[in-house]
Amino acid sequence: MRTDAETIKLTVADKSWTFELRSGSEGPDVIDIGSLYDKTGMFAYDPGFTSTASCESAVTFIDGDEGVLRYRGYNIDQLVKQRSYTDVCYLLLNGELPELEQSKEFESHITYHTLVHEQMSHFFRGFRRDAHPMAIMTGVVGALSAFYHDSTDITDPQQRQVASMRLIAKVPTLAAMAYKYSVGQPFVFPKNDLDYSANFLRMCFAVPSEDYASDPVLARAIDRIFMLHADHEQNASTSVVRSAGSSGANPFACIAAGIACLWGPAHGGANEAVLKMLESIETPDNIPSFIERAKKKDDIFRVMGFGHRVYKNYDPRANIMRETCHEVLDHLGIHNHPLFEIALELERRALSEEYFISKRLYPNIDFYSGITLRALGFPTNMFTVLFAVARTVGWVAQWNEMIDDPKRKIARPRQLYTGSQERHI
Ligand code: ACO
Repeated sequence: MRTDAETIKLTVADKSWTFELRSGSEGPDVIDIGSLYDKTGMFAYDPGFTSTASCESAVTFIDGDEGVLRYRGYNIDQLVKQRSYTDVCYLLLNGELPELEQSKEFESHITYHTLVHEQMSHFFRGFRRDAHPMAIMTGVVGALSAFYHDSTDITDPQQRQVASMRLIAKVPTLAAMAYKYSVGQPFVFPKNDLDYSANFLRMCFAVPSEDYASDPVLARAIDRIFMLHADHEQNASTSVVRSAGSSGANPFACIAAGIACLWGPAHGGANEAVLKMLESIETPDNIPSFIERAKKKDDIFRVMGFGHRVYKNYDPRANIMRETCHEVLDHLGIHNHPLFEIALELERRALSEEYFISKRLYPNIDFYSGITLRALGFPTNMFTVLFAVARTVGWVAQWNEMIDDPKRKIARPRQLYTGSQERHI
């Protein structure tokens, strides 16, 4: 960390202004341009925020060039191999990994909140059976604020704590209900002697007419998927959660806003898009023409699951996801899975193409998560819902950090106006 204050000088014609240069604990320095308009009468212009740090954060660190992802300083591969999703939740929320007793206590707090208000189940009947489960999730998660009034006062740390636990605990229950509703099966209540991920799989796949035995390998796979998706610093949906929260909106409404943003195919909807793409390729023989199309400048078509705004190297989550995908397919005895074969061949070919090399387009996490989720039994339209379940803790941790930030301001960007100048009728 740099200790001596350094400045950067901006010169326009014969005028100059200085701005402070600030360093974090890792990562690129930032130029503090908070006073840019006051000093110069000009705004900064940065569509898509490609060069803008919107906040200070101590939650997650990414080095896109090196392919590094760390939660609170811990590398993602260590966490995934040695800890559980609920431990990762504790870490993201509290800054430290839990000791054994803390871990048990945290898990039992979460478990305590997994049931949703019974009246919420009536909400579901208002949706068409064929509604996309993400459409249902944006509605029902926002509706939590109509049921849990005692945890919507953001100025009360105790209420924020309760809302945080409620969200992490209830979003999987709602996600499983959205799935059950879409397949016309009865809702399955949470079972509190199961861990978070086993409980989620049971709520999705158990039926009242049969015994359900939890499969530890599959529960571990979903736990890993949850850990890999738990947070990713200031991505689009997290920025939306922070933006919504900056106005003082309640946490349930903010997380619903994050879910809406996550749904898009350039973000959380990508794993769904990857699977549809692999299915449409049909056979490895069609891969070359597919790649040729993605390279065409005048065609908006892209290879889904490739490329990332931040990672210009292999996405560190993609390696673990690939391993998990193999484990699940082996465990389920799915050999020579056609989609997996197409995926491997597509990856091999794309990575040897000059176009992908020069643009530094590598597989991202979504490239393998779709195949794994399909093998676990989830239909394609549930993929982004699972991402939302996992990311809820990241949104909640970042939202809490924003509320605690003494420099918090309402998010209110400005614009470069290009419309008509004043005119008269
Ligand atoms: N296939 C083909 N070309 C691509 C791809 C792709 N998947 N991704 C980027 N490119 C090309 C663009 O056409 C562009 O080319 P140009 O410079 O000749 O115009 C160049 O690479 C840079 O692309 P941008 O869109 O400017 O890069 P950006 O950082 O804004 O986009 C994004 C990142 C949205 C992820 C993009 O790579 C993409 O659309 N990928 C496919 C969707 C996807 O997998 N999304 C998941 C993201 S990860 C997540 O949300 C968990």
